[in-house]
Amino acid sequence: MAALLSHLRSGRFAAPIDALHLPAHGRGAGLPVAMRRLLRRRPGSWDLPELPQIGGPLESEGAVAASQRAAAAAVGVSACWYGVNGATGLLQAALLALASPGQAVLMPRNAHRSLIQACALGGLTPLLFDLPFLSDRGHVGALEAAWLERVLAELDRQGQTPAAAVLVHPTYHGYASDPLPLVALLHQRGLPVLVDEAHGAHLQPGVDPALPISSLAAGADLVVHSLHKSAAGLGQTAVLWCQGTQVDPELVQRCLGWLQTTSPSALLLASCDTALHQWQRPRGRRALRRCLDQGRALADRLSDAGVPLLRTPDPLRLIWHTAAAGINGLEADAWLLQRRLIAELPEPGCLTFCLGFARHRGLAGRMLRRWQQLRLALGSSTPLPPFTPPPLPLLGAPEHHLVEAWRGPQRAVPLDDACGAIAAQLICPYPPGIPLVIPGERLDRSRLRWLQEQRQLWPDQITAMVKIVA
Ligand SMILES: Cc1ncc(COP(=O)(O)O)c(C=O)c1O
Repeated sequence: MAALLSHLRSGRFAAPIDALHLPAHGRGAGLPVAMRRLLRRRPGSWDLPELPQIGGPLESEGAVAASQRAAAAAVGVSACWYGVNGATGLLQAALLALASPGQAVLMPRNAHRSLIQACALGGLTPLLFDLPFLSDRGHVGALEAAWLERVLAELDRQGQTPAAAVLVHPTYHGYASDPLPLVALLHQRGLPVLVDEAHGAHLQPGVDPALPISSLAAGADLVVHSLHKSAAGLGQTAVLWCQGTQVDPELVQRCLGWLQTTSPSALLLASCDTALHQWQRPRGRRALRRCLDQGRALADRLSDAGVPLLRTPDPLRLIWHTAAAGINGLEADAWLLQRRLIAELPEPGCLTFCLGFARHRGLAGRMLRRWQQLRLALGSSTPLPPFTPPPLPLLGAPEHHLVEAWRGPQRAVPLDDACGAIAAQLICPYPPGIPLVIPGERLDRSRLRWLQEQRQLWPDQITAMVKIVA
């Protein structure tokens, strides 16, 4: 592994020309100066335990505690905790702090798998609500207030009383609406709100008026940022913010303790600190604005030259709408990888590039050339047919108990023979890590037909066999 990484860095296959994937620091180019300086020190000198001077995310003394206090004060919230197991670990701890075993949690269908896993860990029932579907590309769009009102009315109709709610803002692709009315609607019902803002750490106030606001500014109680996805942190870095009076920070801290390693990496904690700190300074904010401008200028240039793009409110996500040129995004990705243009998220209808925080000199010209070559190699004059929305109710919980279905006796059957059975696994292409099916859900005829269609589209991600409750 070490040999492979050294080889990728320097050998014959020196860094690919355009590595537009996560982590967002762009293979080091966008790391904060302090972090680059640290990494040039004697290898391993920074790999330290929780010495009294350093401490850890759950300690009240030491450099980490001081950094967390300073970060919380700068953002204007009551507390924050750094994480070294990605947004995953922090989302899970946050959810456990919001609901007790036996309670239900309202969450959107595009909830990351970590949240479904947290429901299993905490004995919670996910009450999943559907989202608008954009059939020309096969994505779920942003949640709007009117849609959430319909969901809440359905919640009442079904007599459901969740203990908390989860939102995703923005999505992996950068779709976002104004979180203010969404959080307000949920708060009106007394529901504490956890926002998975893994892809939105850069929604910094006062940097760019065209960016959506962060759910922190919208008053969400708990917000998780993945610092390697939407800030210049090393892989696995994340932060959990806590504000308001609805959530007890003591309880959050206890839940973090259940899931956090007892040996958090000092290097990763320093990376959390530097990634957040740089945006508290005018210089760092200017650099962020430059990255956003660079993203918009790139999209304008490609769009003017005829590349079919899907625009979202996040300029750091560049989405080629390959379906419009009759090209499957997964095939486009494989073709481009061989030509040293590496995307983040291939899907049947699109290819998403994460521009991150590095400078990309000359990228527009190179991308345009690649697009033209790709079109000649794989394109067609007929666009791909529209994608089918999943046949889901507006609101629903798994028919069987999530944990019992997931960890009880199960057997594998061909997808074709699973009609009427209860799923005993997550079916979840990664990325983006959003389950198509969760354990405990019934695979009725329409769901199964839709899954079979998905399998044609994602042949390597959705296997021909599915585990069902025995
Ligand atoms: C919306 C969303 N939330 C959470 C996560 C988990 O983040 P991490 O990889 O930092 O654990 C992901 C990862 O893809 C994600 O897309």
